[in-house]
Amino acid sequence: MTTSEQSIDSLLRENRRFAPSPEFAASAVATPDLYEAAKTDRLGFWAEQSRNLLHWHQPFEQVLDWSNPPFAKWFADGKLNVAYNCLDRHVEAGNGERVAFHWEGEPGDTRTITYAELTADVKRAANLLLGLGIRAGDRVAIYMPMIPETVVAMLAVARIGAVHSVVFGGFSAESLRARIDDAAAKLVITADGGYRRGSVAPLKPAVDAALKDGKSTVQHVLVVRRGENDVEWTEGRDLWWHEELGKVDAEHEAEAFEAEHPLYILYTSGTTGKPKGILHTSGGYLTQVAYTHRNVFDLKPEADVYWCSADVGWVTGHSYVVYGPLANGATSVIYEGTPDHPEPGRWWDLIEKYRVSIFYTAPTAIRSFMKAGREIPLARDLSSLRLLGSVGEPINPEAWVWYREIIGGGQTPVVDTWWQTETGAIMISALPGVTETKPGAAQVPLPGISIGIVTDSGEPVPAGSGGLLVVTEPWPSMLRGIWGDPERFKETYWSKFADRGYYFAGDGAHLDEDGDIWLLGRVDDVMNVSGHRLSTTEIESSLVSHPIVAEAAVVGASDETTGQCVVAFVILRAKKAKSVTPEEASEKLRAHVAEQIGPIAKPKKVFVVPELPKTRSGKIMRRLLRDVAEGREVGDTTTLADTSVMQVIAEGYRKRGGEED
Ligand code: WT7
Repeated sequence: MTTSEQSIDSLLRENRRFAPSPEFAASAVATPDLYEAAKTDRLGFWAEQSRNLLHWHQPFEQVLDWSNPPFAKWFADGKLNVAYNCLDRHVEAGNGERVAFHWEGEPGDTRTITYAELTADVKRAANLLLGLGIRAGDRVAIYMPMIPETVVAMLAVARIGAVHSVVFGGFSAESLRARIDDAAAKLVITADGGYRRGSVAPLKPAVDAALKDGKSTVQHVLVVRRGENDVEWTEGRDLWWHEELGKVDAEHEAEAFEAEHPLYILYTSGTTGKPKGILHTSGGYLTQVAYTHRNVFDLKPEADVYWCSADVGWVTGHSYVVYGPLANGATSVIYEGTPDHPEPGRWWDLIEKYRVSIFYTAPTAIRSFMKAGREIPLARDLSSLRLLGSVGEPINPEAWVWYREIIGGGQTPVVDTWWQTETGAIMISALPGVTETKPGAAQVPLPGISIGIVTDSGEPVPAGSGGLLVVTEPWPSMLRGIWGDPERFKETYWSKFADRGYYFAGDGAHLDEDGDIWLLGRVDDVMNVSGHRLSTTEIESSLVSHPIVAEAAVVGASDETTGQCVVAFVILRAKKAKSVTPEEASEKLRAHVAEQIGPIAKPKKVFVVPELPKTRSGKIMRRLLRDVAEGREVGDTTTLADTSVMQVIAEGYRKRGGEED
């Protein structure tokens, strides 16, 4: 049996199915006829969605221009303003008093922000950016905690047609620097710090370090006051957000931009060391995030309270904290801190307090709550919940069922949503009220989305087998490219099935007898740790940049809570090896990676080994190292140059396995 057959076998052991309740189905947003409509006329379907969900300053006639694949244009002759769609139009429609965000800081401070207030804040911030010389097309880096100003900053950038590049606040100065430079950002918006686990985690020092040699294109740094921690100040460059906002005009009229005007860049890890700047544009992106947010989450904007627990530093935060919910005029919760601070029931307290009805989170979080014990959520009143969503990694059936039973009171539909930074919005998911759900499977492509599970040569696999996940037709929120690197865009996503014009997602999948899709994880050198994408190569480069390391190999090993964890195998430089114990080396290197890339990339274990398993042509066989790290019998070693290597590594691992955490 291959690994993927084994894993699908264990996944399929849970065979309960959950049909939508008649009450839910009766008032569901999504209806079965969506599938029929999209099938009959896919482009007409998307045009109708877009016209219904968005305000176009200049209506479009063209739907899709695919004359120069893989460079798509959606709604190209239309014009709109993304921020106007998220703000002003709701106020103009009489919904200005509706709450856009119930924000809660980690220390317990709160802010309630209506659509009218958010619109006013964004107008001022737009004027501030213009005053600093930011113009349409300029790039602005945003390095912030989860506070309302982060959303204001993103929308202000969008409003004036500039392009934001949000960098997750957990990334290091060096990662920030690489992203600022790649996009040639003119401005950085940051905060003094934000709350994490009871204390202030400073952010400004990383910005200072990233800009320290003064060679970057950044002219100003706007600093929001949040942590009230001391910050160093570069006169002339650094400006306090609140002071500057006080000086600008309150009125700002949103200008319409072309549908294909760039909206944002978001960096994600690929198979090589250098992160890719994924580019999203305006009209198609906003159409699909609004459509999916409404239909997949059964959103009733006037009644629901929606909470997506993602950080805005990731694509989930872009599409389902900011753009989708605001385009739909939803009321959302935003929480600044960690799930278990000051105690492990914090998230459930928030759901009870704000009467959250729709909740969207990652399997990793669900599994750690399972570990902490059901008595914690069961002690809260979670009866307001009526829909649960999952994203970021495969959700094992046990976690799915726990989520539905313990968090959803055995009543709520659970939707497992598959998508990527590149797809911009949800692509595969059950439709609540329509689809009978199946624990562990992401299930079916959304109406309007064309997915295939194919063999290496692009042939569709028969039901009951596995293959590669591809998208066979362009979709509105698809990435438009990799910033500054059209060749890499073509090579990474479109070269594998070039003759068929398929988008290659990098995921393996299984198609079951009912035609439902089960995601099986990445088929490339990309790991998924707690729903965050990490590149093995990027971490290997970081390890070998340390003076004590001669060679390094990194694998993603399966982990009960985080899905995968980073395990590294390193060979030390002969001279240096004598001056450190393996334990010291391991600690040093873990800290080094955390500092270079960010704490999320920190290996769970670093093993010092005498050799790495290589083929005769010198390629490292990570598959064998994964076998070791996952405690399996080592697989076929016949292609190794030296077959005894694996014995030595496996023995060493068994002796020291699990020691360091
Ligand atoms: C990769 C994309 C999409 C937002 C968060 C991650 C994995 C994502 C699922 C799911 C199984 C999933 C895939 C994908 N993934 N959602 N529901 N089931 N796997 O975005 O960082 O761009 O990562 O996450 O492997 O390729 P991302």
